[in-house]
Amino acid sequence: MLVYKVFYIILLAFHGAASSHDSDSTAQSPSTTACVNACADLRDEFGSRLHHPGNGNFNVWDGKQQEVQSACRVEPSTAEDVSKILAALVHHWCPFAVKSGGHAQNADDSVSVGGVTIDLNLINHIEVAQDQQTVDVGSGSTIYDIYHSLEVFNLTAIGARVADVGIGGFALGGGISNLAPKYGLAVDNILQYEVCLETSGAEHFVPLPLYLTYQIRQIVLPNATIVYVNENQHPDLYFALRGGMNNFGIVTQFTMGAFHQPKGLISQTDKIFSLTQKDAVTDEAFQLTTAWKNDTDMAFYYFFSYNSIADHFVLAFSEIYTQPILEPAPFEGLRQIPYESKTARIERMSTLSLEAASRTPSGNRNLFATVAYYPSARMDRHIMEIIEEEIEPVRKMAGFLSNVMFQPLYENVVRAGRERGGNALGIEAKGPLTVCILSATWSSRQDDDAVSSFVQRWIQRANSATTQAGVHHDWIYMSTTPIISKIRFQDMGNTTRKA
Ligand SMILES: Cc1cc2nc3c(=O)[nH]c(=O)nc-3n(C[C@H](O)[C@H](O)[C@H](O)COP(=O)(O)OP(=O)(O)OC[C@H]3O[C@@H](n4cnc5c(N)ncnc54)[C@H](O)[C@@H]3O)c2cc1C
Ligand SMILES: *[C@@H]1O[C@H](CO)[C@@H](O)[C@H](O)[C@H]1NC(C)=O
Ligand SMILES: *[C@@H]1O[C@H](CO)[C@@H](O)[C@H](O)[C@H]1NC(C)=O
Ligand SMILES: *[C@@H]1O[C@H](CO)[C@@H](O)[C@H](O)[C@H]1NC(C)=O
Ligand SMILES: *[C@@H]1O[C@H](CO)[C@@H](O)[C@H](O)[C@H]1NC(C)=O
Repeated sequence: MLVYKVFYIILLAFHGAASSHDSDSTAQSPSTTACVNACADLRDEFGSRLHHPGNGNFNVWDGKQQEVQSACRVEPSTAEDVSKILAALVHHWCPFAVKSGGHAQNADDSVSVGGVTIDLNLINHIEVAQDQQTVDVGSGSTIYDIYHSLEVFNLTAIGARVADVGIGGFALGGGISNLAPKYGLAVDNILQYEVCLETSGAEHFVPLPLYLTYQIRQIVLPNATIVYVNENQHPDLYFALRGGMNNFGIVTQFTMGAFHQPKGLISQTDKIFSLTQKDAVTDEAFQLTTAWKNDTDMAFYYFFSYNSIADHFVLAFSEIYTQPILEPAPFEGLRQIPYESKTARIERMSTLSLEAASRTPSGNRNLFATVAYYPSARMDRHIMEIIEEEIEPVRKMAGFLSNVMFQPLYENVVRAGRERGGNALGIEAKGPLTVCILSATWSSRQDDDAVSSFVQRWIQRANSATTQAGVHHDWIYMSTTPIISKIRFQDMGNTTRKA
């Protein structure tokens, strides 16, 4: 079966994927002549949809990415536009980055350092199929657009919790949602991709990680093709796209499963607990992750957060139920624990996502890191202690916020992946997992290195703690971990399934 050859290439792109995640690329690197020429060509074709010099006004979340200077930013509105752009970029051999919701954190992730930024924001159509089983979503759509458009039909799709996250990065990197306990991750609920890629006119495609295609770029021919990728057509690429991020082409449209959700209503109760309740709350989280996994309407996450202005930690818990029911059975145990404050409501997912977005404003500098382990209340507490210790050198920093978020990943997630024939995320587990995500937010560039070391120390200590306790699981949730995503990029060659 291994008759495929390396015909298919996406090429150069992304500033050379092998090195682009090694950080330290200066955000100010000057545009090359090649890119200046590419932008000039694109101006003829795209007119006012070409922003040059620089990026013009646009939505990008992280302060580090906002500082980036691209040679130009272009806004395609169709897959054909994307294909023309790719052809021009290949012709001039100019590197580029692709932006959907712009929530990535590192320069060059979705705003090109010195190259061309392909901003998908105008590709934002949302069309429900006649049978209402699926929805076609333009890859520049935000999560809010999707929820809001589907609510009219009493439908929903697998989206993030935050309104302004883009479907592009969310759905290519994994996609954890409140509906994950029921349906699995976003990657496993995408039935078809419309993808724009570079080919040499071959009939078969072998998805290759960009860092490999880079080495064989000589054979790339300058034409771009639009292909439809699903379980039957280009199955290798279908496998690779589900978790492969931007390594395999530019996705212009996702065909996603649509699910019945009257008016998009769910129930969400947010509580703040005193730290004296830490033991009771972590024990209850363990119960919800293990004993209550039978109720797939239930989802939850909780935070241990530090705020430099208040100079203290708080424990915040969000109870979610994907039916319009306040106080559902699984949270009975949690209701026995005295809390400091509480907000309970039955609300549309679109509205809840806007609330969440208002708590995560753009313009700050951010880093994420993650560790996964088999559920253990003691480990949750240990990870909180690690933060309390490691935060010392950074806690006084301007605008510093940090939190560790704990959420379950139930077996349905693993099962949904398996049912689609596996995916490039490589999650296998013999029970539910706890996914723990550290986020650090700060405001000044001069603190970048200190925060980065803080995050690195946390990863090291969290990994060694989970390993020593025998609960470690080596799944890394890539979407939230640019800081270590290069590990995944290098693994990618080995997770690519051969036909
Ligand atoms: C505030 C906040 C809340 C979040 N909430 C959640 C959550 O609830 N659940 C969850 O699972 N994750 C969540 N995330 C993580 C989020 O899913 C990832 O950061 C995701 O990559 C962001 O996607 P984006 O399109 O907004 O970002 P972008 O920066 O536009 O894209 C991210 C990466 O994907 C690539 N990419 C985007 N679109 C395409 C495309 N069409 N074709 C090829 N490559 C593409 C980009 O090149 C870039 O490398 C959250 C992140 C933040 C910052
Ligand atoms: C959506 O569901 C509500 C009740 O839950 C119903 O009244 C309404 O007619 C439904 N709308 C559509 C478009 O089916
Ligand atoms: C791409 O270019 C090659 C060589 O010029 C050509 O043979 C092939 O048909 C082209 N493919 C498409 C899809 O245009
Ligand atoms: C689910 O598990 C909980 C806790 O073990 C139990 O009380 C409940 O009855 C179970 N629910 C169902 C529907 O099986
Ligand atoms: C795949 O794994 C093998 C063995 O672990 C390793 O030698 C090789 O370099 C890996 N290939 C890629 C492309 O990472």
